[in-house]
Amino acid sequence: MTMIQTIINNRPESFELPAGTVLLDVLRNYMKLKGTKEGCREGDCGSCMVLWGKMQAHRIEYRTVNSCLFPLGDAEHTHVVTIEGLNGETLNPIQQAIVDDGASQCGFCTPGFVISMTGYLLQARTLDLPAAIAFLAGNICRCTGYTSIIRAMARSLNLINSDEFAHSYPDTRISFLVQQKFLPEYFLSIPDRIQSLPTSPNQLSGQPVIMAGGTDFYRQQGEDVPDANVMLLSREANFKGIYIENNQCVIRAATTITELETSEIIQHAWPDFKKYIHLISCPSIRNRATVGGNIINASPIGDLSIMLLALEATVVLKQNDQMRTVKLKDFFRGYKQLDKSPAELLHSITFPIPPKSGRFNFEKVSRRTHLDIASVNSAILISMENNFINEMHLAAGGVAPIPCYLAKASAFLKNKALNRENVAATIDFALSEVTPITDVRGTAGYKKLLLKQLILAHFVTLFPKMSEAENIQA
Ligand SMILES: Cc1cc2nc3c(=O)[nH]c(=O)nc-3n(C[C@H](O)[C@H](O)[C@H](O)COP(=O)(O)OP(=O)(O)OC[C@H]3O[C@@H](n4cnc5c(N)ncnc54)[C@H](O)[C@@H]3O)c2cc1C
Ligand code: FES
Ligand code: FES
Repeated sequence: MTMIQTIINNRPESFELPAGTVLLDVLRNYMKLKGTKEGCREGDCGSCMVLWGKMQAHRIEYRTVNSCLFPLGDAEHTHVVTIEGLNGETLNPIQQAIVDDGASQCGFCTPGFVISMTGYLLQARTLDLPAAIAFLAGNICRCTGYTSIIRAMARSLNLINSDEFAHSYPDTRISFLVQQKFLPEYFLSIPDRIQSLPTSPNQLSGQPVIMAGGTDFYRQQGEDVPDANVMLLSREANFKGIYIENNQCVIRAATTITELETSEIIQHAWPDFKKYIHLISCPSIRNRATVGGNIINASPIGDLSIMLLALEATVVLKQNDQMRTVKLKDFFRGYKQLDKSPAELLHSITFPIPPKSGRFNFEKVSRRTHLDIASVNSAILISMENNFINEMHLAAGGVAPIPCYLAKASAFLKNKALNRENVAATIDFALSEVTPITDVRGTAGYKKLLLKQLILAHFVTLFPKMSEAENIQA
């Protein structure tokens, strides 16, 4: 048990509760803030969405998070905003737009949508309707239909001067939104009030269970977490950060996917990473889900695991002061089995910065584009000179019990010309290395076909002219 000091809406609160207590339960059951709804309790519907404001140096940054997958302990010294915390004496412009556009019927999803729309205004650099709509990918409405919700979003954006909006990023965004009545005035006082909250350490005894973003943990072990002795990695500075060292990109394990997306280092070191971000869950999950959690949950279709396999990543494991490294392709031993003892923590992930000629591509087939895990996914890193392939690394998920580095296929294409015969042989090698099973995501035969098509898609996407000349088609 530990004392958690936080601000919820306009009030400082302290809770003597286990750090793993689900925030949604605290909001609804202790605080009686019933505007935050409980729908799926699995991160899939967005009805429990809240804003989470965390001090970053001198200013506060707000992110949307699913309170059903959020440990109360991570609210320590932060600001949690529910729909009640956005209410003023009259409806704010987003709430009014929802009324004017008939964007609510039963209303169950509406608080979550208002929170996400506000989250977009807090997080976006510039105003962009398609990006704003994509930002709502984690919110589901069962009865109104999305057209009127999108109209309400567009109406809200139209009220804002786009130049002033862009200029306010990041330092004066909150005061800008207060001025425009999207946020209540008390938001201005929150940074000072957070800094004056009493401090309580991340208290642990015995062997704790490890939680990073919690997005997988609560789904798998949700019933047990509230009473467990939880170590919250997102509060451990040593597990956060991205930097370059000895021509390697180092990502500390508790780095979130949003932090990857906004990192200038990643833009330089991981070609085109941002292009694929919309294929990974939705903004509120990305705001919490970590790179380390994606690897340790050992899902055979973990998107980051697949991408990092193609980048030839290595994992760094830590136990007390001892560190050891393992190639990511050797780390996965069997279904959900890792080369890791229970006491070891994943400390960081490193990968060599690809050469200038290096090109990266990621492909994913899932039943729906947003907020879904893959049936099959695949990543490639390839460098070429004068139509000859210097190096290629290919990985695929959903085709074996583990995220798979396709070693034979990768080795085959090295120093070969890019032509139809060699690509066909690469696919044959890849198919000989995988053992898909038939399950709800498709038959084994379908998954093999998908893998073949995804490998072709890599070449067609990365080398369109050559693929056309060689008649390589996905
Ligand atoms: C709605 C939804 C959509 C999703 N969509 C996708 C998707 O599109 N693609 C995808 O790949 N995944 C998806 N996921 C799965 C999940 O969000 C990701 O795998 C995520 O990266 C897990 O990270 P986390 O920090 O939340 O892990 P947690 O839930 O905190 O932890 C997962 C496991 O790893 C352990 N762990 C975490 N960090 C460490 C560490 N540093 N050292 C030792 N052990 C550690 C924990 O003990 C736990 O067993 C989705 C999940 C949800 C809920
Ligand atoms: S209750 Fe559905 S996402 Fe939280
Ligand atoms: S208004 Fe009923 S679920 Fe959206």
